[in-house]
Amino acid sequence: MDIDFLKNEIKDILSKKRYEHSIRVLETAISLGKIYKADLNKVAIASLLHDYAKEFKRDDLINLSKEHFYDETKDYLSNAEILHSYIGTYFAKEKFNITDSEILNAIKYHTTGRRDMSVVEKIVYLADAIEPKRDYPYVEKIRDLSLINLDKAILLEVNKKIEYLLKENHVIHVNSVEMRNWLLNLS
Ligand SMILES: [Fe+2]
Ligand SMILES: [Fe+2]
Repeated sequence: MDIDFLKNEIKDILSKKRYEHSIRVLETAISLGKIYKADLNKVAIASLLHDYAKEFKRDDLINLSKEHFYDETKDYLSNAEILHSYIGTYFAKEKFNITDSEILNAIKYHTTGRRDMSVVEKIVYLADAIEPKRDYPYVEKIRDLSLINLDKAILLEVNKKIEYLLKENHVIHVNSVEMRNWLLNLS
């Protein structure tokens, strides 16, 4: 898959703001990929496509989720933030003929994470959370950790995310809780 082709494809569909975010995720993910010796081609494709469906209309996200990912999304249909990841996977498959499960899973789980993530999945997940324009408490600490211990960086990120979601009384996806427990047991 040609990376410049994909850049043009997402430039066409995303707002300038979201396109620039995707490019920063790409750059952050490639840096992490070099440190952790991941397949950089997979990292690049998943990074560019991770938010492909982010700006889809809410109704379209809900309808496509019901149609193609019912079992996985039925408890989260009111949460577009979670649905766009699944629909991104759908377009990666249908529009770009991507069949590699590591790329597809990196897109599908970039919002929630999950237990047993591969290194490509971990990198796309974390790059999305720490790209240079992200600004929230502890992001600097997570960035510093990302350079020395990928798992510990994700653990701190998900702890802070869960704290935030609790404070705001938002839904916490079961995959995020399972990822946290998994990482906690690794350390
Ligand atoms: Fe996203
Ligand atoms: Fe993103």
